[in-house]
Amino acid sequence: MATMESLIGLVNRIQRACTVLGDYGGADGALPTLWEALPSVAVVGGQSSGKSSVLESIVGRDFLPRGSGIVTRRPLVLQLHQTEEGQEEYAEFLHLRNRKFTDFSLVRREIQDETDRVTGRRKQISPVPIQLSIYSPNVVNLTMIDLPGLTKVAVEGQPESIVSDIENMVRSYVEKPNSIILAISPANQDIATSDAIKLAREVDPTGERTFGVLTKLDLMDKGTNALDVLEGRSYRLQQPWVGIVNRSQADINKNVDMIAARRNEREYFETSTDYSHLASKMGSEYLAKLLSKHLESVIRSRIPSITSLINKTIDELEKEMDQIGRPVAVDPGAQLYTILELCRAFDRVFKEHLD
Ligand code: GDP
Ligand code: NA
Ligand code: MG
Repeated sequence: MATMESLIGLVNRIQRACTVLGDYGGADGALPTLWEALPSVAVVGGQSSGKSSVLESIVGRDFLPRGSGIVTRRPLVLQLHQTEEGQEEYAEFLHLRNRKFTDFSLVRREIQDETDRVTGRRKQISPVPIQLSIYSPNVVNLTMIDLPGLTKVAVEGQPESIVSDIENMVRSYVEKPNSIILAISPANQDIATSDAIKLAREVDPTGERTFGVLTKLDLMDKGTNALDVLEGRSYRLQQPWVGIVNRSQADINKNVDMIAARRNEREYFETSTDYSHLASKMGSEYLAKLLSKHLESVIRSRIPSITSLINKTIDELEKEMDQIGRPVAVDPGAQLYTILELCRAFDRVFKEHLD
């Protein structure tokens, strides 16, 4: 038997199949429930809280669009696949299957272009996700969904409703019980005013599926520290709080690369008088490992319900296929046929993981 595919990898394949069929959060797809059942990590935070920086740090590459205003206007489903040492790093979009991106600045541009293609240049938002896979020896297996930043005011040219549209879109992701919430708050603001924590508290009041991330520790006022938050006294979560030091805007302007940034972050914690006792449980590398382990264990615990949904999906697809008749190339029937085959395959492999 070939080496068993990782559980996260398997779920990633189902997620991609769902997206192809138009099944994603809140949409009326052919498989309205399967996507919802798939565990993933949703990244939430206010604008400029450091969401993009945390994601880039976890990936170890610069690849996300930057700028002021609402930059992320469609969900970005980011699937990280750990490959063997020595393999070349590359990225691939679901909407551009035949192209391997090895230049990550082109990944950034494609995210921008593909955002505009669906939302128009008028800075609207859209719930249709962009699906990006990154293959690299330097990542852990992990799936994260980057969402538009929570905001309080519309910028020029944007409809007033954008503020509540964003909140509703983000909520539709984090309210699913299978969603793991990565709630990002900046340390230089009072945690009581954090948009991320406010939303997380609403949809996950017991804090069992929320990971608190505190960015910008280096920007706190001299003489203050974030120990009350990081040690769970300010706001209690059942998952740990992780402190992060990302690149500052000055570092980005100076092109400080990710390797150097990770090293600086490690040094920051190891040499900090406030945080050195927590150093082994702080920083983006630790966060990535923590999330990967947690996601895998959540998937494992959900295998029975995912397989039962897959079987239900198989039944529905078979019925639908009977009505459409045999599929011929590229018609919707052919897509259903493909996903039916995929579902059957997943059902077999999940059963192996259960043994
Ligand atoms: P987003 O809007 O939530 O995606 O936030 P970004 O990741 O784009 O960060 C907004 C700004 O804050 C950028 O200029 C970052 O360089 C800066 N920033 C983010 N995290 C940190 C941090 O931990 N320390 C410092 N000094 N700056 C940070
Ligand atoms: Na943000
Ligand atoms: Mg951003």
